[in-house]
Amino acid sequence: MKALDDVSFSIEKGQVVLIVGSSGSGKSTLLNMIGLLDSPTNGNIFIDDINTTTLNDNEISSFRNKKLGFIFQFSNLLSDLSVLENVLLPLQIAGNDLTSEEDAIDLLKAVGLEDQLHKRANKISGGQAQRVAIARGLINKPSIVLADEPTGNLDSVTSQLIVDLMKSMAKKLNQTFVIVTHDRQHFGNVDKVITIKDGKAFQVEEFSTMEITV
Ligand SMILES: Nc1ncnc2c1ncn2[C@@H]1O[C@H](COP(=O)(O)OP(=O)(O)OP(=O)(O)O)[C@@H](O)[C@H]1O
Ligand SMILES: [Mg+2]
Repeated sequence: MKALDDVSFSIEKGQVVLIVGSSGSGKSTLLNMIGLLDSPTNGNIFIDDINTTTLNDNEISSFRNKKLGFIFQFSNLLSDLSVLENVLLPLQIAGNDLTSEEDAIDLLKAVGLEDQLHKRANKISGGQAQRVAIARGLINKPSIVLADEPTGNLDSVTSQLIVDLMKSMAKKLNQTFVIVTHDRQHFGNVDKVITIKDGKAFQVEEFSTMEITV
């Protein structure tokens, strides 16, 4: 049985793209393939003109650390570390010297957490933790940010804050966001919506301009 079949689309730099569809339709599988956490048995995935399906394991790890950022439904912060330390973690993993603690603080300011930098991650609320996870997902300046139900675990008001934040980050930093969500109405206008049904790209809707109202 194939989790995905006959899925074809392209995404431009800086776009906000939603992947929607019912449970079990193949959304996470698709996102994990774009994120090189899973590889297709057939077909190709090009990112920045690189055919990622030809990369070896080392190249995949390095590509993922340098070009991709991940945000998941549960923030998965390390509870013993501070908010700031959690955001700095991917830098250390990637051996990235180009980004500094100052950048981490700037990102945490952008997500409205400048007064929580040194709080332990288990002492903040769910919505704050998800904002930390967004800052962490952006610290390596990824070309593409992949988010799997980033608001799935949040109340409606906090969800809207997180959505607006991701949309404004996409615009401000010209980063591409690919977001799996059950929550299309919270997103308002986006550049593209891909509906997955039974593992196939059932519908790809493109919108000419994304209006930002934040
Ligand atoms: N690596 C894999 N190989 C084959 N089948 C898989 C693989 N991963 C998941 N599946 C199956 O593919 C289907 C799609 O799973 P997936 O997790 O992508 O769904 P989803 O759309 O993200 O669902 P949900 O909204 O519940 O998270 C499911 O039937 C699942 O059991
Ligand atoms: Mg899923």
